[in-house]
Amino acid sequence: MLILGIETSCDETAAAVVEDGSKVLSNVVVSQIDIFAEYGGVIPEVAARNHLEVMMPVVKKALKDAKKTWDDIDAIAVTHTPGLLGSLLIGTLTARTLAIVHKKPLYAVHHLKSHIYANWLHAPIDEKDKNILSGLPELASEDEGLSPVKTGAKNPSPKESLLSFPLLALVVSGGHTQILRMDAHNHFEIIGTTRDDAVGECFDKVAKILGLPYPGGPAITKAGKTGGKNRYKFPKPKVEGLDFSFSGLKTAVLRTVQKELGLPINHPSHDLKNHLKEAQIADFSASFEKTATDYLLEKLEKAYEMYPETKSFVIAGGVSANELLREEAKNRFGEEKVFFPNPKFSGDNGAMVAAAAYFEIKSGVKPTDPYKLNILPRSEIK
Ligand code: KG4
Ligand code: ZN
Repeated sequence: MLILGIETSCDETAAAVVEDGSKVLSNVVVSQIDIFAEYGGVIPEVAARNHLEVMMPVVKKALKDAKKTWDDIDAIAVTHTPGLLGSLLIGTLTARTLAIVHKKPLYAVHHLKSHIYANWLHAPIDEKDKNILSGLPELASEDEGLSPVKTGAKNPSPKESLLSFPLLALVVSGGHTQILRMDAHNHFEIIGTTRDDAVGECFDKVAKILGLPYPGGPAITKAGKTGGKNRYKFPKPKVEGLDFSFSGLKTAVLRTVQKELGLPINHPSHDLKNHLKEAQIADFSASFEKTATDYLLEKLEKAYEMYPETKSFVIAGGVSANELLREEAKNRFGEEKVFFPNPKFSGDNGAMVAAAAYFEIKSGVKPTDPYKLNILPRSEIK
């Protein structure tokens, strides 16, 4: 089954063609990061206008790269929730129109479900996966590192055969931080969530304090390379159970920077960067990254204690690209049990939307009415 996935929930305009929920035939992502880097964050109206400009060229390129025509496409999938209102509108209106014009069934997908299903997309993430892939007779030649393989009932994707239920999913993005339990495909139970900021948002805000560009995640990793990860101790927020809090951690960094610089707590945060030396930025970055990743994984360990029958761990969302998080998770849960998307699919993309729709279809979800599909800026995964 060939699905065209469309994603526009935030500041990436993306479309992809995916076969059977895992074989990525094309993956086109136009990011607005360069536009928003200078503003230090996303401006919703600007994001929506940019989606509008590139949406159709992105869809056309996704079909062209996959060497497919509309006749080959079995269904269209689109993110309809959660996200920025104007951004979601462009993607859904495009998908609705295309579904009507080309007479294709339309599937409306939850953005976090897509992030989780990015883990089923076919692209080797490390040597272990590469070995498995190379053992398959159906292996096609590497195309831009996507390593497509044949999938389907007779040829299950190698990753699909390794990922086992019940599993615990840690979703870490710019808008969400959640732990979910999955007993089967398309069966989600939220068991932990952030009570305030998301972890990605916290990376972005701390980066801003340190004078680093948006998005904060990669910038903090880069700046922290030469820093001491134990140089500063930030208290981890004390939240009961499996819930998270990240606003306290951001404030802890802010106060420590002010203290280190000998400035009062009412000194404006936007000016601190003008006083910081490179070595201090490196130390703050490394120490913050360590605290944030430890905090995430401590909660995931706690979830494992509560659900010891867990067979796999899936880490998803933009922050799952973080190298320290990947290394630490492998150390804590074992390399064979923990899964990350290929970094190409950690951030927002259309392939993960197509993958999520495929597993929804397999579990009996019916298409949505293209004349009636609504967007929801906020909603929980179901
Ligand atoms: O999933 P995503 O692309 O968009 C949302 O659905 O929110 O996540 C974006 C977030 C940003 O906050 C960005 O700073 C963070 O993911 N991020 C990272 C890394 N790459 C992106 N955070 C930590 N380490 C990274 N390498
Ligand atoms: Zn996302």
